Amino acid sequence: MKALVIGGGGREHALAWKLLESPRIQEVMCVPGNGGTATLPGCRNLGLALDDFEGIARVALVNNLSLVIVGPEQPLAEGIADYLRAQGIKVFGPSQAGAQIEASKAWAKALMKEAGIPTAESAVFTDAESAIAYLETQNIPIVVKADGLAAGKGVTVAHSFDDAVGAIRAAFEGKFGTAGSRIVIEAYLTGQEASVLAVTDGDTILPLMPAQDHKQIGEGDTGPNTGGMGAYAPTPIVSPEILDKVQERILQPAIAYLNQQNIDYCGVLYAGLMISPAGDPYVIEFNCRFGDPETQVVLPLLDTPLEDILTACIERRLANLLPIRWKAASSVCVVAAAGGYPDEYTKGMPVTGLDAAAAKGAIVFHAGTRLKGSQLQASGGRVLGVTALGETFDSALETAYEAIAEIKFETLYYRRDIGFRVR
Ligand code: AMP
Ligand code: GLY
Repeated sequence: MKALVIGGGGREHALAWKLLESPRIQEVMCVPGNGGTATLPGCRNLGLALDDFEGIARVALVNNLSLVIVGPEQPLAEGIADYLRAQGIKVFGPSQAGAQIEASKAWAKALMKEAGIPTAESAVFTDAESAIAYLETQNIPIVVKADGLAAGKGVTVAHSFDDAVGAIRAAFEGKFGTAGSRIVIEAYLTGQEASVLAVTDGDTILPLMPAQDHKQIGEGDTGPNTGGMGAYAPTPIVSPEILDKVQERILQPAIAYLNQQNIDYCGVLYAGLMISPAGDPYVIEFNCRFGDPETQVVLPLLDTPLEDILTACIERRLANLLPIRWKAASSVCVVAAAGGYPDEYTKGMPVTGLDAAAAKGAIVFHAGTRLKGSQLQASGGRVLGVTALGETFDSALETAYEAIAEIKFETLYYRRDIGFRVR
């Protein structure tokens, strides 16, 4: 089997690495990939752009690929899965209609309301005056969200009325482009956040190992949001009882609703959850793809070959594959970021110490690296995801930190408190 992974972050490196664990996978291609996928044995990067659907289709057809996996939300929201599927290519990733679950928060909220999925009270606005009038009737804190894709920056948790007004005005003044021409104002939820990534063939939906990530740049979960500074799985906050509630109250109703709308959803449905102090899960957001860095901790725990699961989804026979097998282990990822991230950051610094990190027992996933000749350079805000498995959470954490201490590049920053909620 030959597969193609679309995207160039840590998630895509982890997908390619996991696929290549299986002796049945002869080759993985990546578009555009990164320094990690370029140096992974059995993997190669193709010089194609993410939005070159035609070029990607050609590669898939010429190489008779068994599987195309779409990593990021942008191409899914632009309809890459429909485009490839129409040419008979086997794609893991939802259609453009299905990807609305992430690409439009207003659409996702309407789905949740109609399907009876627990989530915060909310309202949708297309102008500042009515949004502010609504705000006056609500409690603070409150959450203001740009409707469309805003690279993780479209959400403001406002702790004062004035901050909320500022966020509303900023959105309608074009801070997020067209993504902010419609906003969702949502009640503030308390509890602990968790990520449940579920795979689905459109009928059956299967939650993977629950994970937690640390979205904020600073220790103690402070400072601006990032794509994620570290993650771990499994997480004790999502007990088996809570995972059953997630399946019954959230994942199954979501798939049933999508079916009702004639949306064939094959791919990942990622539920970003708030677990209330009483142990009830509420949806903060849905994503239409694998999470990053969550994928970097979830996939190494998987014992069933990844291509079996993805192929079963594409062939609409996931139910026949169950149950899938997991390693009895814990997994922790600590992200090595470039100084300045999530604002402007430095690039081009040589990155060393990967072999030494691997010798400590870690798997080093590349998130933002490139090969310049034979030199590995930082090329993104999140540079590496240093992941370790252990029999216990503590041993995985210890290995991840021992390994990341070996990594060297100028301006390197990482959080020293990943997993503090568990310890
Ligand atoms: P999102 O991009 O929708 O995941 O939102 C980014 C972050 O904002 C989340 O990870 C939460 O920390 C926070 N957030 C979003 N919605 C809410 C909410 N209704 N209540 C509390 N925090 C929220
Ligand atoms: N780690 C958060 C996300 O993938 O959206």
